[in-house]
Amino acid sequence: MFGDGIVRATPGLAAVHPGKTGDCGAQLGAIGRFTSRLEHWMSGLPLLVALYGRAYRHVIEREIALAEIESRDRVLNIGCGAAPFTALLLARHTGARITCLDRDPQAVAQAGRLVRRLGLQGSVDIQLGDAAHSAPPFDVAVVALQTIPKLGVLHRLAAGKPPGARLVVRESAEWCRDMYDRLPCSLTPRAQVWHHMGALERSALYLAGDLCRFVQEEG
Ligand SMILES: C[S@@+](CC[C@H](N)C(=O)[O-])C[C@H]1O[C@@H](n2cnc3c(N)ncnc32)[C@H](O)[C@@H]1O
Repeated sequence: MFGDGIVRATPGLAAVHPGKTGDCGAQLGAIGRFTSRLEHWMSGLPLLVALYGRAYRHVIEREIALAEIESRDRVLNIGCGAAPFTALLLARHTGARITCLDRDPQAVAQAGRLVRRLGLQGSVDIQLGDAAHSAPPFDVAVVALQTIPKLGVLHRLAAGKPPGARLVVRESAEWCRDMYDRLPCSLTPRAQVWHHMGALERSALYLAGDLCRFVQEEG
């Protein structure tokens, strides 16, 4: 562990976080469904979104440090939801342009309205689409905890990208492991930061080249 709270992988260590089995349930669990509904409800209330987002400020600051996100990076946020506080905070703290992708048409319409109300359409672009099928170009992708299917989305994002393209993936805590899709624990991240914030346990950094190699080797 370094002073910045980032835990970097030790070469040759397979499981950085032991105790996880890694699996790929395809359904969004109860907490994820509740969060989506909550976001739909609060999307029309920018002040509430800002307050909700404040709780995630440190999460986003740690992720920016983890992936060394800079203003010149093209940042892609997978799963922005109806209340895209991750994208709003990433834009504010890095100055980078953020493209958001969500597969829920209602969430996309609401998030787009919110961004226009805030006058931030120059820095945050909301697009409809399933990241498991296609995604806009990026230098860094930040992947929501509720993303389904995690490995499929990561592989799709990594395919054809420069090996150094960065992917930050949020992972769930052990107590709610069955409610979120998870990556196989044999997939070793380059580095991780811990949040211990309810269902959100940590964010892990992967490189596109490592992901492509993993999928090729695992078949
Ligand atoms: C409830 S939101 C939480 C995100 C939160 N608002 C933020 O700013 O971090 C999670 C979103 O992920 C989206 N999602 C899940 N899997 C996806 C995929 N494969 N492609 C695009 N969006 C996805 C869901 O539609 C949902 O809106």
